[in-house]
Amino acid sequence: MVSKIGVLTSGGDAPGMNAAIRAVTRSALDLGWEVVGVAHGYAGLMSGEFMPFTARSVGGIIQQGGTILGSARSEEFKTVDGRKKAIRNMAQHGIDGLVVIGGNGSQTGAYSLHQMGFPVNGVASTIDNDLVGSDITLGVDTALNIALEAIDRLKTTASSHNRAFLVEVMGRGCGYLALMAALAGGAEAAVIPEIETTPEQVADIIRKSYARGKSHCIIVVAEGAKHELDVLMDYFKDKKGELGFELRGTELGHIQRGGEPGAFDRILGTRLGAGAVEAMANGTYGVLCGLKGNELAYTPLADCVGKTKGVSESVYKLASVMAK
Ligand code: F6P
Repeated sequence: MVSKIGVLTSGGDAPGMNAAIRAVTRSALDLGWEVVGVAHGYAGLMSGEFMPFTARSVGGIIQQGGTILGSARSEEFKTVDGRKKAIRNMAQHGIDGLVVIGGNGSQTGAYSLHQMGFPVNGVASTIDNDLVGSDITLGVDTALNIALEAIDRLKTTASSHNRAFLVEVMGRGCGYLALMAALAGGAEAAVIPEIETTPEQVADIIRKSYARGKSHCIIVVAEGAKHELDVLMDYFKDKKGELGFELRGTELGHIQRGGEPGAFDRILGTRLGAGAVEAMANGTYGVLCGLKGNELAYTPLADCVGKTKGVSESVYKLASVMAK
């Protein structure tokens, strides 16, 4: 049974991470355990950046974006020596359990620690929503709302000038953010990694939207699509007069990860953080705490890592019907 746990955030930050840190801390303290905040993800685990946490350490953070612990991606932790150093550091500080709040790469790190016999559980957190083991991951809802606000704004200027916009959103190799932003933003199409759309098809969608008398055309492009924003803009550079609409491209970038989390992510972070601790208290280690339906779900990290969750084909079809 563990009695002193570390908590860290790793990989790309996601709105709601602070709610999860707070929940891990207060749930563990409630069990009588000690809690240590680890700064800068796995890098801090290897360099021993440990801060003893009380309930007050995590006060007033639930509404804050980013992560108070800081985050990083570490190459050294991918090596056995790096992980041994981390385990040694934790042993020296009496830390006998760890909660890792992060996405795919971070949970791969957590799984490696688990394979080395260290008690660790994960919290499914990434704006990409690509993690197997959770229908929805921490940060997605807020990122989606930020993308939507941008799309709504672009639509008004697009209509004023009769323009088509290609709007690139994040998501790494997963088209979830792009597809959902297209559906909720009333876009004319989503270009995603899972279903190829050629530049010729994009041109056709733009031309047909113009012919139908639309005042604008919004195409949401996932950064991981084969034909992402730069590829498409390059393809269209000498074809601009053939589309009906004038064409512009906008990359939303890290704006999608910034700012305070919405209600959904504050609640999700709280539930997942507490859930990861509860699993440990029950002697369950090596699992990812996620959400399936509206219930907490625990999936062995072995079944989550190295995979990318797909998008729903029926939602893809729905988005194209709605674009008529
Ligand atoms: O995994 C989250 C994410 O925001 C991806 O959508 C994006 O591809 C990547 O991180 C960007 O990474 P960085 O913040 O290191 O530029």
